[in-house]
Amino acid sequence: MSADQQHGFGTRAIKAATRPPRVEQVPASVPIYQTATFHARDVEDYAGLVGFERQGYTYARIENPTADAMAAAFAEMHGAEAGFAFGSGMGAVHAALVSLLRAGDRILCTRAVYGSTRALMERVLARLGVEVVFVDPVDLGAVERELATAPTRLLYAETISNPTIVVADLARLAELGHRHGAVVVVDNTFASPYLCRPLELGVDIVVESATKWLGGHSDVIAGVVAGTTERIRAVREVAIDTGGIVAAFSAFLVLRGMQTLHVRMDRHSQTALALATRLERAPGVGQVAYPGLASHPQADTAARQLHSGGGMLALELASRDAAAAFINGLTIPPVTATLGSVTTYAVHPPSATHRQLDEAQLRAAGISPGLVRISVGLEDAADLLADVDAALAAATRVGQGA
Ligand SMILES: Cc1ncc(COP(=O)(O)O)c(C=O)c1O
Repeated sequence: MSADQQHGFGTRAIKAATRPPRVEQVPASVPIYQTATFHARDVEDYAGLVGFERQGYTYARIENPTADAMAAAFAEMHGAEAGFAFGSGMGAVHAALVSLLRAGDRILCTRAVYGSTRALMERVLARLGVEVVFVDPVDLGAVERELATAPTRLLYAETISNPTIVVADLARLAELGHRHGAVVVVDNTFASPYLCRPLELGVDIVVESATKWLGGHSDVIAGVVAGTTERIRAVREVAIDTGGIVAAFSAFLVLRGMQTLHVRMDRHSQTALALATRLERAPGVGQVAYPGLASHPQADTAARQLHSGGGMLALELASRDAAAAFINGLTIPPVTATLGSVTTYAVHPPSATHRQLDEAQLRAAGISPGLVRISVGLEDAADLLADVDAALAAATRVGQGA
């Protein structure tokens, strides 16, 4: 009788049902390592692994092979040395910032950024003694003046701003930031690595919400950070101590999305350009901001920095009511607040993604009451154009008081 056979049923059942199969062949997709822990050979082996003296796995809040595969894929797409994958975009932004900041430090942040990023800086980090100053990223003179005003630890920007679709000149910002001793962190969510690779432009750390274009199907919440090995080591330390790592299944979904990113982004860009062109000529529509339009205020930067215009655009309608009527009048996009998906979404930022901002802050960030942000999906372009035409007619009637 073997030692195992001497054990009771329960002990044998647990052993039997937790024995991973040995697989010699390479699977077509990255397996989901749905496990909380990994077993070491002995106490000394465990200590070596958990102390990062050797590569290996111990506890899935620290590292997990599926999460590592997602981080490595993101790093490779960005030409980075290393990456770390998080349970959300905000988890990624948080860890990137906290890995760099101490009480008393100063952040210079571009004026239109995602509402929760702003809240993280103004509510959470400010409470811990970090000063935050907002600046218009297009006004490089103002950026330089602010950098010269006081020592600045961190310059933060979005490649394409949420929700105003301002395109930041990342090479210039990186150069200015470095000249004044700031670490430059960029949220590249709206662009994705297919459109833009900020590290190649001199940026130090790139962050993305993988919930958006990377995942691409509105079925996962995840985030990711990439940069040098040294910077990512500091990010990983924050992730471990705050429990930020992505779940294995979420990482699997992001890895699946990444494989079709280039094909999806080409189509998103193509349809978004058609929509932006139509909206630009439509009566009752103010400024249409789309990086692929010649009329975009930063069209030159966009042409230099972005592979294509991408899937995000913004339009100005006459009022908050007109924006609501437009969104309510659309039949294809559901009323919700995300982006970067096969599904088209139209969002009213003042009442959704940027609800944390009061009227004065919205104005200062360049977000008008009638602003609508559209994330263009993969539906048939003709259907979206017809839907937008009909919804605009409804919005115009509101504008005319009908
Ligand atoms: C630009 C940008 N960064 C970060 C985030 C946060 O991502 P998540 O919702 O995955 O936490 C978002 C979410 O909308 C975003 O738009």
